[in-house]
Amino acid sequence: MSTDGAQIVLVTGANKGIGLETARRLGELGMTVLVGARDKGRGEAAAEQLRAGGADARFVHLDVTDEKTVAATAQWIEAEFGRLDVLINNAGVWIEGMTPLAEVTVQQLRDTYEINVFGVVAVTNALLPLLRRATAARIVNVSTELSSLQLSADTTNHVSSMRLLAYNSSKTALNSLTLMYANELRESGILVNAAYPGFIATDLNGHRGFQPVEEGARASVHLATLPADGPTGQFLGVGEGSSTADTVLPW
Ligand SMILES: NC(=O)c1ccc[n+]([C@@H]2O[C@H](COP(=O)([O-])OP(=O)(O)OC[C@H]3O[C@@H](n4cnc5c(N)ncnc54)[C@H](OP(=O)(O)O)[C@@H]3O)[C@@H](O)[C@H]2O)c1
Repeated sequence: MSTDGAQIVLVTGANKGIGLETARRLGELGMTVLVGARDKGRGEAAAEQLRAGGADARFVHLDVTDEKTVAATAQWIEAEFGRLDVLINNAGVWIEGMTPLAEVTVQQLRDTYEINVFGVVAVTNALLPLLRRATAARIVNVSTELSSLQLSADTTNHVSSMRLLAYNSSKTALNSLTLMYANELRESGILVNAAYPGFIATDLNGHRGFQPVEEGARASVHLATLPADGPTGQFLGVGEGSSTADTVLPW
Protein backbone atom coordinates (compact mmCIF):
# COMPACT_ATOMS: atom_id res chain seq x y z
CA MET A 1 0.00 0.00 0.00
CA SER A 2 1.32 3.46 -0.84
CA THR A 3 2.03 5.85 2.00
CA ASP A 4 1.95 8.88 -0.30
CA GLY A 5 0.23 11.68 1.60
CA ALA A 6 -0.68 9.40 4.48
CA GLN A 7 0.08 10.57 7.99
CA ILE A 8 2.60 8.43 9.85
CA VAL A 9 1.66 7.50 13.43
CA LEU A 10 3.67 5.50 15.93
CA VAL A 11 1.76 3.88 18.79
CA THR A 12 3.91 2.39 21.56
CA GLY A 13 2.60 -0.76 23.23
CA ALA A 14 0.30 -1.31 20.26
CA ASN A 15 0.19 -5.10 20.28
CA LYS A 16 -2.89 -5.27 22.51
CA GLY A 17 -5.41 -3.37 24.59
CA ILE A 18 -6.04 0.33 24.10
CA GLY A 19 -2.92 0.72 21.93
CA LEU A 20 -4.02 -1.91 19.41
CA GLU A 21 -7.51 -0.43 19.19
CA THR A 22 -6.05 3.09 18.77
CA ALA A 23 -3.83 1.78 15.96
CA ARG A 24 -6.82 0.08 14.32
CA ARG A 25 -8.91 3.25 14.39
CA LEU A 26 -6.12 5.47 13.06
CA GLY A 27 -5.48 2.89 10.31
CA GLU A 28 -9.15 3.12 9.37
CA LEU A 29 -8.69 6.88 9.04
CA GLY A 30 -6.02 6.22 6.40
CA MET A 31 -2.93 6.77 8.51
CA THR A 32 0.14 4.57 8.15
CA VAL A 33 0.33 2.90 11.54
CA LEU A 34 3.62 1.88 13.10
CA VAL A 35 2.83 -0.82 15.66
CA GLY A 36 5.40 -0.46 18.43
CA ALA A 37 5.82 -3.62 20.49
CA ARG A 38 8.57 -5.04 22.70
CA ASP A 39 7.83 -8.62 21.69
CA LYS A 40 8.43 -9.40 18.01
CA GLY A 41 5.88 -12.22 17.81
CA ARG A 42 3.09 -10.23 19.46
CA GLY A 43 3.93 -7.11 17.46
CA GLU A 44 4.05 -8.90 14.09
CA ALA A 45 0.75 -10.63 14.86
CA ALA A 46 -0.92 -7.31 15.75
CA ALA A 47 0.37 -5.60 12.59
CA GLU A 48 -0.81 -8.57 10.50
CA GLN A 49 -4.24 -8.36 12.13
CA LEU A 50 -4.46 -4.65 11.27
CA ARG A 51 -3.33 -5.27 7.69
CA ALA A 52 -5.99 -8.00 7.36
CA GLY A 53 -8.51 -5.29 8.29
CA GLY A 54 -7.24 -3.08 5.46
CA ALA A 55 -4.83 -0.82 7.34
CA ASP A 56 -1.31 0.09 6.25
CA ALA A 57 0.33 -1.23 9.42
CA ARG A 58 4.01 -2.01 10.05
CA PHE A 59 5.53 -3.65 13.10
CA VAL A 60 8.36 -1.79 14.84
CA HIS A 61 10.40 -3.56 17.51
CA LEU A 62 10.30 -1.03 20.34
CA ASP A 63 10.91 -1.69 24.00
CA VAL A 64 10.65 1.77 25.52
CA THR A 65 13.18 0.81 28.21
CA ASP A 66 15.77 -0.37 25.68
CA GLU A 67 17.78 2.50 24.22
CA LYS A 68 18.95 0.36 21.31
CA THR A 69 15.42 -0.35 20.08
CA VAL A 70 14.46 3.30 20.67
CA ALA A 71 17.39 4.52 18.54
CA ALA A 72 16.77 1.85 15.90
CA THR A 73 13.10 2.86 15.70
CA ALA A 74 14.02 6.50 15.08
CA GLN A 75 16.58 5.49 12.43
CA TRP A 76 14.13 3.19 10.66
CA ILE A 77 11.34 5.80 10.62
CA GLU A 78 13.76 8.41 9.28
CA ALA A 79 14.98 6.09 6.51
CA GLU A 80 11.50 4.87 5.60
CA PHE A 81 9.39 8.03 5.92
CA GLY A 82 11.68 10.97 6.73
CA ARG A 83 9.26 12.28 9.35
CA LEU A 84 6.70 11.31 11.99
CA ASP A 85 3.29 13.01 12.23
CA VAL A 86 1.91 11.53 15.44
CA LEU A 87 3.51 9.86 18.45
CA ILE A 88 1.24 8.10 20.92
CA ASN A 89 3.07 7.21 24.13
CA ASN A 90 0.63 4.47 25.08
CA ALA A 91 2.88 1.71 26.51
CA GLY A 92 2.32 1.47 30.24
CA VAL A 93 2.32 -0.87 33.21
CA TRP A 94 0.58 -1.21 36.56
CA ILE A 95 3.08 -3.44 38.37
CA GLU A 96 2.08 -3.12 42.02
CA GLY A 97 -1.50 -4.30 41.58
CA MET A 98 -3.47 -3.77 44.79
CA THR A 99 -0.39 -4.04 47.06
CA PRO A 100 -1.09 -1.90 50.14
CA LEU A 101 0.63 1.47 49.87
CA ALA A 102 3.11 0.88 52.70
CA GLU A 103 4.20 -2.43 51.15
CA VAL A 104 4.99 -1.10 47.68
CA THR A 105 8.72 -1.48 47.14
CA VAL A 106 11.13 1.04 45.74
CA GLN A 107 11.98 -1.54 43.08
CA GLN A 108 8.32 -1.59 42.02
CA LEU A 109 8.46 2.19 41.73
CA ARG A 110 11.68 1.99 39.68
CA ASP A 111 10.25 -0.66 37.35
CA THR A 112 7.06 1.33 36.87
CA TYR A 113 8.87 4.61 36.23
CA GLU A 114 11.24 2.90 33.74
CA ILE A 115 8.28 2.34 31.41
CA ASN A 116 5.65 4.94 32.33
CA VAL A 117 8.05 7.89 32.69
CA PHE A 118 11.63 7.31 31.52
CA GLY A 119 10.48 5.32 28.49
CA VAL A 120 8.28 8.20 27.39
CA VAL A 121 11.18 10.66 27.62
CA ALA A 122 13.50 8.30 25.72
CA VAL A 123 11.02 7.72 22.90
CA THR A 124 9.87 11.34 22.68
CA ASN A 125 13.39 12.78 22.59
CA ALA A 126 14.53 10.25 19.99
CA LEU A 127 11.57 11.06 17.74
CA LEU A 128 11.35 14.84 18.22
CA PRO A 129 13.62 15.62 15.25
CA LEU A 130 11.25 13.60 13.03
CA LEU A 131 8.13 15.16 14.59
CA ARG A 132 9.60 18.62 13.91
CA ARG A 133 9.73 17.72 10.19
CA ALA A 134 5.97 17.06 10.05
CA THR A 135 3.67 19.94 9.14
CA ALA A 136 1.35 19.51 12.14
CA ALA A 137 2.72 16.96 14.58
CA ARG A 138 0.89 15.70 17.67
CA ILE A 139 2.11 13.89 20.77
CA VAL A 140 -0.38 12.00 22.92
CA ASN A 141 0.63 10.73 26.36
CA VAL A 142 -1.76 8.13 27.75
CA SER A 143 -2.44 8.99 31.38
CA THR A 144 -5.15 8.23 33.92
CA GLU A 145 -7.52 10.21 36.09
CA LEU A 146 -5.74 8.53 39.03
CA SER A 147 -2.77 10.82 38.24
CA SER A 148 -4.74 13.97 38.96
CA LEU A 149 -3.41 15.85 41.98
CA GLN A 150 -6.58 17.91 42.15
CA LEU A 151 -8.86 14.85 42.24
CA SER A 152 -6.52 13.12 44.75
CA ALA A 153 -6.69 16.17 47.03
CA ASP A 154 -10.49 16.04 47.04
CA THR A 155 -11.34 13.44 49.70
CA THR A 156 -14.92 13.27 48.41
CA ASN A 157 -13.64 12.04 45.03
CA HIS A 158 -13.15 8.29 44.44
CA VAL A 159 -9.65 9.00 43.06
CA SER A 160 -8.45 9.90 46.57
CA SER A 161 -9.23 6.35 47.72
CA MET A 162 -7.23 4.73 44.88
CA ARG A 163 -3.73 5.05 46.37
CA LEU A 164 -1.62 3.19 43.81
CA LEU A 165 1.71 4.59 44.90
CA ALA A 166 3.86 3.66 41.91
CA TYR A 167 1.26 3.74 39.13
CA ASN A 168 -0.51 6.96 40.04
CA SER A 169 2.66 8.91 40.81
CA SER A 170 4.31 7.72 37.59
CA LYS A 171 1.36 9.08 35.64
CA THR A 172 1.48 12.35 37.61
CA ALA A 173 5.09 12.62 36.48
CA LEU A 174 3.92 11.88 32.94
CA ASN A 175 1.43 14.75 33.22
CA SER A 176 4.24 17.06 34.27
CA LEU A 177 6.29 15.95 31.26
CA THR A 178 3.27 16.54 29.05
CA LEU A 179 3.00 20.16 30.16
CA MET A 180 6.71 20.81 29.76
CA TYR A 181 6.86 19.35 26.25
CA ALA A 182 3.67 21.27 25.36
CA ASN A 183 5.19 24.56 26.49
CA GLU A 184 8.55 23.79 24.88
CA LEU A 185 6.95 22.91 21.53
CA ARG A 186 4.11 25.46 21.51
CA GLU A 187 5.90 27.77 19.06
CA SER A 188 6.64 24.91 16.68
CA GLY A 189 2.94 24.00 16.35
CA ILE A 190 3.41 20.52 17.82
CA LEU A 191 0.40 19.83 20.05
CA VAL A 192 1.17 17.79 23.16
CA ASN A 193 -1.65 16.50 25.35
CA ALA A 194 -2.45 13.84 27.92
CA ALA A 195 -5.31 11.39 27.27
CA TYR A 196 -7.53 9.64 29.79
CA PRO A 197 -9.07 6.56 28.15
CA GLY A 198 -11.62 5.78 30.88
CA PHE A 199 -11.63 2.60 33.00
CA ILE A 200 -11.18 0.04 30.25
CA ALA A 201 -11.22 -3.77 30.37
CA THR A 202 -7.67 -4.81 29.38
CA ASP A 203 -4.90 -7.09 30.62
CA LEU A 204 -3.57 -4.14 32.65
CA ASN A 205 -6.39 -4.44 35.17
CA GLY A 206 -7.31 -8.11 34.69
CA HIS A 207 -10.24 -6.96 32.52
CA ARG A 208 -11.97 -5.35 35.49
CA GLY A 209 -12.49 -2.11 33.56
CA PHE A 210 -16.10 -1.08 32.95
CA GLN A 211 -15.77 -0.27 29.27
CA PRO A 212 -14.42 -1.95 26.11
CA VAL A 213 -11.25 -0.94 24.24
CA GLU A 214 -13.39 0.70 21.54
CA GLU A 215 -14.32 3.28 24.17
CA GLY A 216 -10.77 3.46 25.52
CA ALA A 217 -9.24 4.48 22.20
CA ARG A 218 -11.48 7.49 21.73
CA ALA A 219 -9.39 10.01 23.70
CA SER A 220 -6.11 9.03 22.00
CA VAL A 221 -7.71 9.11 18.54
CA HIS A 222 -9.25 12.51 19.30
CA LEU A 223 -5.91 13.98 20.39
CA ALA A 224 -4.01 12.33 17.50
CA THR A 225 -6.29 14.00 14.97
CA LEU A 226 -6.59 17.50 16.46
CA PRO A 227 -6.84 20.38 13.99
CA ALA A 228 -3.97 22.89 13.81
CA ASP A 229 -5.82 25.24 16.19
CA GLY A 230 -6.50 22.42 18.64
CA PRO A 231 -5.48 22.52 22.28
CA THR A 232 -2.03 21.82 23.65
CA GLY A 233 -0.99 21.22 27.26
CA GLN A 234 -4.41 19.77 28.11
CA PHE A 235 -5.56 16.66 29.94
CA LEU A 236 -8.51 15.36 27.95
CA GLY A 237 -10.54 12.21 28.06
CA VAL A 238 -13.67 10.42 28.93
CA GLY A 239 -14.23 12.21 32.21
CA GLU A 240 -16.42 11.44 35.16
CA GLY A 241 -20.05 12.06 34.26
CA SER A 242 -19.18 12.63 30.61
CA SER A 243 -18.82 10.29 27.69
CA THR A 244 -17.19 12.73 25.28
CA ALA A 245 -13.51 12.27 24.47
CA ASP A 246 -12.79 16.00 24.82
CA THR A 247 -13.76 16.46 28.45
CA VAL A 248 -11.05 18.48 30.24
CA LEU A 249 -9.70 16.78 33.38
CA PRO A 250 -7.94 18.66 36.18
CA TRP A 251 -4.18 18.11 36.41
N1 LIG B 1 -7.08 0.07 31.04
C1 LIG B 1 -7.40 1.16 31.71
O1 LIG B 1 -8.43 1.25 32.38
C2 LIG B 1 -6.49 2.36 31.65
C3 LIG B 1 -6.91 3.52 32.31
C4 LIG B 1 -6.09 4.65 32.26
C5 LIG B 1 -4.91 4.61 31.57
N2 LIG B 1 -4.51 3.47 30.95
C6 LIG B 1 -3.24 3.49 30.21
O2 LIG B 1 -3.46 3.06 28.89
C7 LIG B 1 -2.24 2.55 28.35
C8 LIG B 1 -2.51 1.21 27.69
O3 LIG B 1 -2.91 0.30 28.70
P1 LIG B 1 -3.90 -0.93 28.45
O4 LIG B 1 -4.98 -0.81 29.44
O5 LIG B 1 -4.21 -1.06 27.01
O6 LIG B 1 -2.94 -2.12 28.97
P2 LIG B 1 -2.40 -3.44 28.28
O7 LIG B 1 -3.46 -4.13 27.51
O8 LIG B 1 -1.69 -4.17 29.37
O9 LIG B 1 -1.34 -2.89 27.22
C9 LIG B 1 -0.14 -2.31 27.64
C10 LIG B 1 0.79 -2.28 26.45
O10 LIG B 1 2.05 -1.67 26.87
C11 LIG B 1 3.08 -2.53 26.41
N3 LIG B 1 4.33 -2.37 27.15
C12 LIG B 1 4.56 -2.58 28.45
N4 LIG B 1 5.85 -2.37 28.73
C13 LIG B 1 6.46 -2.01 27.56
C14 LIG B 1 7.77 -1.67 27.18
N5 LIG B 1 8.78 -1.69 28.06
N6 LIG B 1 8.00 -1.33 25.89
C15 LIG B 1 7.02 -1.34 25.00
N7 LIG B 1 5.75 -1.69 25.28
C16 LIG B 1 5.48 -2.01 26.55
C17 LIG B 1 2.51 -3.94 26.54
O11 LIG B 1 3.28 -4.88 25.82
P3 LIG B 1 3.34 -6.44 26.24
O12 LIG B 1 2.16 -7.10 25.60
O13 LIG B 1 4.65 -6.89 25.66
O14 LIG B 1 3.30 -6.51 27.74
C18 LIG B 1 1.13 -3.69 25.93
O15 LIG B 1 1.21 -3.66 24.53
C19 LIG B 1 -1.25 2.46 29.53
O16 LIG B 1 -0.38 3.56 29.49
C20 LIG B 1 -2.17 2.55 30.75
O17 LIG B 1 -1.52 3.08 31.88
C21 LIG B 1 -5.27 2.34 30.97
